[in-house]
Amino acid sequence: MTYETYQHLIYSWMVLGVVISLVLLRVAAPFGRHTTSGWGPMINNRMGWMVMEMPGMMLLMYFVITNITSQNIVTGVLVGFYMFHYINRAFVYSFRIHTRGKKIPAIVVCFGICFNLVNGFFLGYYFGHFAQYSLDYFITPQFIAGTALFGTGIYINWKYDNKLIHLRRSGDTGYVIPFGGLFEWVSCPNLLGEIIEWSGYALLCWNLPAVSFVVWTAANLIPRALSHHKWYKKRFGDYPEERKALFPFVL
Ligand SMILES: NC(=O)c1ccc[n+]([C@@H]2O[C@H](COP(=O)([O-])OP(=O)(O)OC[C@H]3O[C@@H](n4cnc5c(N)ncnc54)[C@H](OP(=O)(O)O)[C@@H]3O)[C@@H](O)[C@H]2O)c1
Repeated sequence: MTYETYQHLIYSWMVLGVVISLVLLRVAAPFGRHTTSGWGPMINNRMGWMVMEMPGMMLLMYFVITNITSQNIVTGVLVGFYMFHYINRAFVYSFRIHTRGKKIPAIVVCFGICFNLVNGFFLGYYFGHFAQYSLDYFITPQFIAGTALFGTGIYINWKYDNKLIHLRRSGDTGYVIPFGGLFEWVSCPNLLGEIIEWSGYALLCWNLPAVSFVVWTAANLIPRALSHHKWYKKRFGDYPEERKALFPFVL
């Protein structure tokens, strides 16, 4: 595939992401607290998370391994950052959530697999065929600033995912109002962390597929945070008034 064709495909994929986000603003993705019946067959929630998060990283690795001769250590580090996130999400996060007895619609898992496969394809194809990072890339401003942002985002995402997981005892499936730290400002600091993380990744990679990935992440997570926030306010009459959904003071 030429780079021009690749660019056309990826711009189309980004436009689709914006369209999907408009749909998600009207219909909350039916998993977690928004799960409802009527979405077809359901599967075990933990299994769903694992199955959803694995294929993208495997496809990315396929392109990297099959084009190993065109790689250098820089590509290896960029791929490593991506794998670091996804190994946690597929094999650590999915086992840590307190989700006994909960189910997730199979259709959500299928959408998740498609999302991860297409993003894994675009990133993997880029790293395998088009990437040309020189060894001094590690001292460029975008790599240094992007890595700092990526690290900050991952820290926030893990910290607040962890806090949410521990709001429940093992075996519980209910919900309470979270307090403390960034929860005093926003309802969904974990989702904010994920958006910061992939914005940092786009900056440190300085390539089109990483930009496309953050567009899709925001397209998923901005509507999800707004749905969570609305849900909290409806569920808890005493929900803190001043708290925003995702971005302190803004949204
Ligand atoms: N890159 C992307 O496009 C993308 C898309 C979706 C998700 N993600 C990431 O995947 C992770 C999970 O996303 P999510 O939307 O499922 O997060 P979430 O709704 O905040 O839930 C995180 C975990 O905490 C539990 N939980 C949440 N709020 C709770 C409360 N008030 N009381 C008790 N337990 C609570 C949830 O249980 P329940 O599941 O039972 O509600 C779930 O196990 C996040 O890190 C997110 O950034 C990324």
